[in-house]
Amino acid sequence: MGKLEGRVVVVSGAARGQGAAEARLFAAEGARVLLGDVLDDQGERVAAELGPARARYVHLDVRDEASWRAAADAALEAFGKVDGLVNNAGILRFNGLATTPVEEFREVVAVNQTGCFLGMKTLAPHIARAGGGTIVNTASYAALSGMAFLTAYAATKGAILSMTRVAALELADRGIRVNAMCPGAIDTPMANPRQAEAGGLRLGGGEKATEEASGGRLPGGAASEGQVPGGQVPGGEAVARGSVAGEPARGEGSAGGAPDAHGSASNTDSGAAGTDSGAVGADSSAAGTDGAAAVDGMAVDGMEAFYAKLIPQGRMGRPEEVARLALFLSCADSSYVTGQPFVIDGGWLAGVPVL
Ligand SMILES: NC(=O)c1ccc[n+]([C@@H]2O[C@H](COP(=O)([O-])OP(=O)(O)OC[C@H]3O[C@@H](n4cnc5c(N)ncnc54)[C@H](O)[C@@H]3O)[C@@H](O)[C@H]2O)c1
Repeated sequence: MGKLEGRVVVVSGAARGQGAAEARLFAAEGARVLLGDVLDDQGERVAAELGPARARYVHLDVRDEASWRAAADAALEAFGKVDGLVNNAGILRFNGLATTPVEEFREVVAVNQTGCFLGMKTLAPHIARAGGGTIVNTASYAALSGMAFLTAYAATKGAILSMTRVAALELADRGIRVNAMCPGAIDTPMANPRQAEAGGLRLGGGEKATEEASGGRLPGGAASEGQVPGGQVPGGEAVARGSVAGEPARGEGSAGGAPDAHGSASNTDSGAAGTDSGAVGADSSAAGTDGAAAVDGMAVDGMEAFYAKLIPQGRMGRPEEVARLALFLSCADSSYVTGQPFVIDGGWLAGVPVL
């Protein structure tokens, strides 16, 4: 018997990346899953792969309260109840504190922070009516450690941890546990442009991808260009090259991807493809170097060594590994756990790598 037998879980941002991995694992563990995203074609494909008895897809723009209500209605209509939520949808914009347009800041807040709030607000009453259940919010390593060029993103992820604690307190007596995950560098389209390309998203121009991922609105050119002070795209070139070359990282293996982690990448494409680039910058800063400059000048081959050195386990994480943490926090194995952040980062946050 699966660990989620009889459960009904809503997963936001489930068209790809970690959200799709969570939907697949949850369905395999016996749950019925309502997948929501703004990438409708990809989301429909994941739901079809799981089959109508296990999964349904609905267009869900997490910024919009009416969209959340419609998703709740769709879950109730299809499966009769909701007793689980994974707030996974998110976007990344990599930009300097002094160069971030306020519209870009607000867009990141709208998706990552307001989206998480609206998900909990809308579904908590349904989960309570079902007799209790679980909420898993997706924060980030960036909620716990400073990362250059991630003001907006890090702010929203910090807010998610704060909301997680408050929600855990308010909802405990309704039988609802609320926890958060803090992934480090995970090999998904957000952090690896090569994956975005494989999924039919455009690289480089980024606008189409960004538009899709953000629900049709482009928050400002700077984001797509990944500007940083000085106008440089941190790591953009390195990432792009890395993503093509994509050698597996050392150790257990690569998530298949280019070790770009964070891509620095990312950012270039921002948005959908957008990388968690931030990470890159972050990494760099973690490594004690001038992030942008260090990553920007890094050759593809160097990226592998970069991650191998930066992350104690020597590689990026796989979305399936994050899905297993989401499963733990959504099933009875974590029955006495609520209000906590769970870091999943290959040891990145443990300290400064010197080996
Ligand atoms: N990949 C990493 O390295 C990393 C690290 C730390 C945290 N995270 C977080 O993990 C979560 C999942 O990201 P991922 O790595 O799978 O990236 P991803 O870009 O592959 O997936 C994010 C999903 O969210 C969806 N989305 C974006 N805007 C939306 C909106 N307005 N409404 C509904 N859906 C929307 C996208 O379409 C996409 O399917 C995000 O919250 C991200 O911030 C990722």
